[in-house]
Amino acid sequence: MGTTDLDTPCLVLDLDLFEANLHRMQGLVAAAGRHLRPHAKTHKCSEIARRQIEAGAIGICVAKVSEAEGLVDSGIGGILITGPVSSATKIQRLAGLIERAPETMVVVESAISAGLLDRELSRRGLGMNVLLDLDPDFGRTGVPFGSALEFAAELAGFQNLRLAGIQVYAGHLQHVTSYSERREASLRVLREAAGIFRVLGERFPGCNIFSTSGTGTVDIDLEISEITEFQPGSYVCMDEEYLRIGSAGSETGFETYAPALRVLTGVVSANQPGFVTVDAGLKAVYRDGATPRVLDARYAQLAYEWFGDEYGKLLAPAPGIALPPPGTTVELVASHCDPTINLHDRFHLVRNHEVVGDWPINLRGCCQ
Ligand SMILES: Cc1ncc(COP(=O)(O)O)c(C=O)c1O
Repeated sequence: MGTTDLDTPCLVLDLDLFEANLHRMQGLVAAAGRHLRPHAKTHKCSEIARRQIEAGAIGICVAKVSEAEGLVDSGIGGILITGPVSSATKIQRLAGLIERAPETMVVVESAISAGLLDRELSRRGLGMNVLLDLDPDFGRTGVPFGSALEFAAELAGFQNLRLAGIQVYAGHLQHVTSYSERREASLRVLREAAGIFRVLGERFPGCNIFSTSGTGTVDIDLEISEITEFQPGSYVCMDEEYLRIGSAGSETGFETYAPALRVLTGVVSANQPGFVTVDAGLKAVYRDGATPRVLDARYAQLAYEWFGDEYGKLLAPAPGIALPPPGTTVELVASHCDPTINLHDRFHLVRNHEVVGDWPINLRGCCQ
């Protein structure tokens, strides 16, 4: 069975490209003597997480407790929850997870939430490792660099939380188009974070993990010797948002990792001049980051445009350019891989244009 036999819209993962991405990132980080704890928020798939660990990752990052629960259910360990956990409900859920997977770590960035977590763990006779979440002026979560030592001292007062390290995630820098500007900005914040990490390490024995980075800065951040582990996510799948930023090899493209993920869409109507209607709209390819790109060489000149919930358009840039007839299947590179994957049930696996199986996207919808 070939990809054109698949029903559309659907997701396809090219296994050769996926494996190349997996081993390239793992090789890069391991060659520098550091660890990889890749982020599952991108792929939402225990089968991929398992392969990342088999390739050498020391564990898996997740954004949410429900994703951690799903991975633990699949027998995957070494989990770091990279977002703060603050509500009483979620803290109970996290403590329940620690009973099943005691090595799970979470970031902390509020004395109030840390206090609630400490009390819940104490009630259950548990303890857990936490990473202090430092905000590199991104502003999403984390304590400002200037408050790190004071907050760490507060954490030391909680008997059931062990300060195991820091997390610094500069999400606002990952897609800076200019590689040189991205490099300068990322090294500036991480050098400062490294200074804080050294002081914390002296004052708090056991504070020895420095976790950071996304796909856009791993090769840059490797220059900071204090970093112990990297948490990129997108590299295994890739998307148009990443593929069009500059990289070490080129100021206009990021070819280190290949677009292993594709959205397959079918032409459903060709009754209009200048465009055809396809069956992948907002519910199949998420509208964020960049515009999906047509991958098929035959139709590469056509531009995708969202056309409502269920449909998209493939537009010819000029008259006379051939449009695909109804029934044609076209491959798109996703705009932004994470939220697009979250819209689908499975990855169809493809090798040499043959469909060879599928992996369930078992963590899709796990946003709690
Ligand atoms: C905390 C954290 N770490 C790592 C990542 C992975 O980043 P990327 O998908 O750009 O590699 C993300 C993505 O949003 C994140 O929020």
